[in-house]
Amino acid sequence: MLVRTTDTVPHNLADEILRLKNELNAVILAHYYQESEIQDLADFVGDSLELSRRAAATDADVIVFGGVHFMAETAKILNPHKLVLLPDLDAGCSLAEGCPAPAFRQFRESHPGHVAITYINCTAEVKALSDIICTSSNAEKLIRQIPADTPILFSPDKNLGAWLQKKTGRDMLLWNGSCIVHETFSERKIIALQLEHPGAEIIAHPECEASLLSRAAFIGSTSALLHYVQSSPAQEFIVATEAGILHQMEKHCPGKRYYPAPPDANCACNECPHMKRNTMEKLYLCMKNRTPEITMGEDLRLRALKPIQRMLEMS
Ligand code: 13P
Ligand code: SF4
Repeated sequence: MLVRTTDTVPHNLADEILRLKNELNAVILAHYYQESEIQDLADFVGDSLELSRRAAATDADVIVFGGVHFMAETAKILNPHKLVLLPDLDAGCSLAEGCPAPAFRQFRESHPGHVAITYINCTAEVKALSDIICTSSNAEKLIRQIPADTPILFSPDKNLGAWLQKKTGRDMLLWNGSCIVHETFSERKIIALQLEHPGAEIIAHPECEASLLSRAAFIGSTSALLHYVQSSPAQEFIVATEAGILHQMEKHCPGKRYYPAPPDANCACNECPHMKRNTMEKLYLCMKNRTPEITMGEDLRLRALKPIQRMLEMS
């Protein structure tokens, strides 16, 4: 975001953010992939489904979103009369970018009679062209409610789609998209890490590739992974999702050990570069300046709302 020349950033950022939160009557919603300071001062930290539910239920005047654009956009679709702030409007998502609305429209038009189930990691335009939105925590449940003789288009994550096909036995047509973070994990390095820590269980987000998922003791959404480490008798885990989740694992279950799954290259590629665009400074400035905010035309919002409401009703 543009930092105004008059903008000065105070030293006690966390205190100032909490002061602004009261002043604005705001709620701060954050995803697990946000930096730990943002998670620590959020009113609620959760997975995509929980964040949508919280956004739908809040009575705050302002929603401040610690997450990526499609998450804040979903909050706006559900709350047209509230101010929805996102610290950095460029916090995108490789899945959403890889599924542009004109190409998705063509995909739909070339498969008439199919029901389009679309992962929430997409733009409002793509939501508006879909029948039902899903997240990784409710997709299986939603797919099982579709009559067996109705063919399904699943977009935009082919890895999540393939995992769901395996779980439900449904043959779905998959959009060819993937997440730059979850595709980066090195199976070779993960195997080496497990040899070093033979008691460690591999746990993975379903956006990972099938070969890695086949090695996982547990597969689930970010919240499901967090719940799993608390209930599993295992004491060590190799965690194949964005490394930000380790903060909540260490908080909720401090006695256990967590190893972030290593990426293929010697980089920090197991961190989502989009999520990490949001910083404490930008969070403070967006609340101070009440911008950048998410805006959208009412016609698009109403069309995008329908498949989100269907998701909330069906899950
Ligand atoms: P969750 O819904 O599991 O939190 O996943 C969101 C996401 O973007 C994963 O990369
Ligand atoms: Fe998108 Fe992947 Fe980042 Fe999740 S981790 S927000 S799917 S780019």
